[in-house]
Amino acid sequence: MALLSVQNLCAYYRTEIYGISRTVRAVDDVSFDLLPNEIYGVAGESSCGKTTLIKVISGNIKPPLKVNSGSINYHFGTYDVDILHISQEELRRNVRWKEISYVMQGSMSVLNPVRKIIKTFEDIVDTHERIRDKKKFLEQAREHVNRLGLPTEVLDSYPHQLSGGMRQRVAIALATVFQPSLIIADEPTTALDVVVQRGVLQMIKDIQALSNNTVLLVTHDMAVHANVADRVMIMYAGRIAEEAPTESIFNAPLHPYTQHLIRSLPMIGERSLKAGLRGAPPNLANPPSGCRFHERCPQVMDVCRTEVPALVPIRENHRVACHLVKEASL
Ligand SMILES: Nc1ncnc2c1ncn2[C@@H]1O[C@H](COP(=O)(O)OP(=O)(O)OP(=O)(O)O)[C@@H](O)[C@H]1O
Ligand code: SF4
Ligand SMILES: [Mg+2]
Repeated sequence: MALLSVQNLCAYYRTEIYGISRTVRAVDDVSFDLLPNEIYGVAGESSCGKTTLIKVISGNIKPPLKVNSGSINYHFGTYDVDILHISQEELRRNVRWKEISYVMQGSMSVLNPVRKIIKTFEDIVDTHERIRDKKKFLEQAREHVNRLGLPTEVLDSYPHQLSGGMRQRVAIALATVFQPSLIIADEPTTALDVVVQRGVLQMIKDIQALSNNTVLLVTHDMAVHANVADRVMIMYAGRIAEEAPTESIFNAPLHPYTQHLIRSLPMIGERSLKAGLRGAPPNLANPPSGCRFHERCPQVMDVCRTEVPALVPIRENHRVACHLVKEASL
């Protein structure tokens, strides 16, 4: 059974400035499942809706963001949660940290710059009613940090005393101290150099292997997905373009946008310049008709300008939203 089932999710930002209302269709008709014990990658260029999607599935839905339609259901063993209808109290008490942990984009947003790391851990204890014995919990936190290969002294530092990579690893340690069923990490390696990135990714893999939980890893960096993810979802302009096991995404991508992403990856020894994609990502306040990729697609057909391609299974575990692929598979 899936750990999470998302069906036809539409989540929009609705703003009103000087009496002019604007709707940004950041997540539009998105359906996917997360399985227990997998690392699931979400990729796509800036502003395609990655962060919005994980905000919604983790229950962080605040105006101007609104869920227009769809469903989000979790199955945590014997505990089922409908995240769109759960009370804030139950979410805080039973779901956050214990079942779902969210490492937000930019680790500094989790760590308070004027508090020692250990104090941030204590803040979690204070807001987490399950923990009665603070001293015991702090021992547990030190053990957890140690188990993940970090020196326990980091807990007595201020965030600015740590390198970016160390801060990110501490943020991940904080998020996983209760061994949640689902860990969501938003761009955990962005802005880190390659060697430091490797350490952070290895830590995520180690945590997953240690607890057999599910990791939802969001990054625009396809090389990271190649190294870590079991399956990958490619988003384009608020919609799923393709979803497949990592090997198929990299060895046999079917959607023209995925093919572009794979072709753009640097290869060892290659010197020629990579061809870019024409145009810019669409404005989600006024998205293009039909396939949202049609203005940039090198293989565009007439039908693409008017009809939205459905996300259809092409092979087992491989779904693609493209008129071309549908035609080729007939
Ligand atoms: N608070 C907000 N109000 C209005 N629009 C927003 C808000 N936050 C995000 N958006 C818009 O929603 C769309 C999706 O943004 P989102 O942050 O989810 O993208 P992303 O894929 O995470 O991008 P990045 O890779 O840059 O982090 C964008 O068009 C963005 O401008
Ligand atoms: S549906 Fe058409 S425009 Fe969209 S990706 Fe496929 S071929 Fe290109
Ligand atoms: Mg983002």
